[in-house]
Amino acid sequence: MNSTEDFIKHINEGYTSKGESITLGGAILNGEAIADAFVKIPLKTLNRHGLIAGATGTGKTKTIQVFSEQLSSFGIPVLMMDIKGDFSGIAKEGEEKSFITDRHAKINLPYQVAKFPVELLTLSEQNGVRLRATVSEFGPVLFSRILDLNDTQSGVISIIFKYCDDNKMPLLDLKDIKKVINYITEEGKEEITKSYGKISTSTTGTILRKIIELEQQGGDIFFGEMSFDIEDLMRIDENGKGYVNILRLTDIQDKPKLFSTFMLSMLAEIYQQMPEKGDSEQPELVIFIDEAHLIFNEASKALLEQIETIVKLIRSKGVGIYFVTQNPMDVPSGVLAQLGLKIQHALRAFTANDRKSIKQTADNYPTSEYYNTSEVLTSLGIGEALVTALNEKGIPTPLVATMLRAPMSRMDILSETEIQEINNKSRLVKKYSELIDRESAYEMLNKKITVIENEAAAEAQKEADEKAEEKAAKTRTTKSNNTTSAVSKSVIKVLTSATFIRGVFGVLTKIFKK
Ligand SMILES: Nc1ncnc2c1ncn2[C@@H]1O[C@H](COP(=O)(O)OP(=O)(O)OP(=O)(O)O)[C@@H](O)[C@H]1O
Ligand SMILES: [Mg+2]
Repeated sequence: MNSTEDFIKHINEGYTSKGESITLGGAILNGEAIADAFVKIPLKTLNRHGLIAGATGTGKTKTIQVFSEQLSSFGIPVLMMDIKGDFSGIAKEGEEKSFITDRHAKINLPYQVAKFPVELLTLSEQNGVRLRATVSEFGPVLFSRILDLNDTQSGVISIIFKYCDDNKMPLLDLKDIKKVINYITEEGKEEITKSYGKISTSTTGTILRKIIELEQQGGDIFFGEMSFDIEDLMRIDENGKGYVNILRLTDIQDKPKLFSTFMLSMLAEIYQQMPEKGDSEQPELVIFIDEAHLIFNEASKALLEQIETIVKLIRSKGVGIYFVTQNPMDVPSGVLAQLGLKIQHALRAFTANDRKSIKQTADNYPTSEYYNTSEVLTSLGIGEALVTALNEKGIPTPLVATMLRAPMSRMDILSETEIQEINNKSRLVKKYSELIDRESAYEMLNKKITVIENEAAAEAQKEADEKAEEKAAKTRTTKSNNTTSAVSKSVIKVLTSATFIRGVFGVLTKIFKK
């Protein structure tokens, strides 16, 4: 039998780091926390993503709090998708209670209270930094997902986006896209059919109905300007601490598709806008996605593939993504395989399915001479977890049962007054509270329709010469099209090219922004 000294050596060797690292907690052996055997994660490997899993009430949210606090201390900003709204306490100092000091005494880690700079973001009219996106930026893939469209309907949405991209017509809000749909089924019918093929009116009818449904559910609220600039997520405060940006999603909990799609659009945008970083000492941004299963639920195969691609590629932009969910099996295997850090809190064995998932989970962890993984998985206490990470060389560290440190900040949520205080001080709240309604598809098409109507009136008067005139005009336009085709073709290519403008999920890089 190995001695405790051997074990401490085993952990400390496995988790040493030449560069800076964050300390998650101390190791547990035979159910007891051990002093001076620390579980450290190198900052350098934080862009290798991770998973935080465990049954309800086992300590996942507190683990993210502990994790975020340390990231912020190192000047690394955090984006937290806070579905339950239980994360805001990080803005205030915690209290030094005996259950906390006992926990820290066991692992021999000093405890101190601290608070962290916070921005509260919101997708609704709730107090905070308003997060909006334009329909154009959102792109056809995600827009179709929000509306729950089938393949045929999604195809029509793609044509609509293409038409608007080609004509440089910004789709800012739902009013714009409704206008375009009306236009292409009426005044613009011929124009569309000529360049993009026939579009069935029953399909556009269904799409319109679904957009109206979305509006009625309050989904119109986050489409529009001013659209959020992801650079505002990267702020460091005057003391060098990274901002913890908390996207509070409590009030749209009942619309999982809406916010999971919004999350995807944000990921795509972060991915597209951030420069390539290569290997670096620490990440630029760390994102935690709570209730991560919502992103993967009902996602089509194509969408899942794109999510996998983003997860794979965003690493090189210095962004780490951490999925938080109750059951690790909620995360598709293609994504799971890319996660470097795994923090597995206790799982409960109530049903046959539970037992199956415990076995599967245990099989996914490296074997250890110190632990019986499936036994440990069901016997971990609250605020304890099985951990494996990657060391600086990218090699998996030994499996370790860990007693997590306690948050330095408040474990409870903020009061309404405290939330108000934060928002009153926030520069971003002011910046994004402004509603802008500049000329977009709606106004542009209205103008166009007026022109068409005027023309129609004029046409009616001289119907006789009209036909001849039209013929002549046609040859003229074909001629002029031919002469400018080289230039306009290249312009159109830049404007609509998937790689330049519409990237992953068809999300747009902000070309309409001034
Ligand atoms: N690291 C920790 N230090 C001290 N106490 C902890 C720690 N982790 C968890 N706890 C205690 O356990 C409680 C539940 O933890 P937490 O809210 O993080 O669970 P959860 O897994 O996120 O649950 P849910 O699935 O319901 O969201 C906390 O309120 C706290 O009292
Ligand atoms: Mg939680």
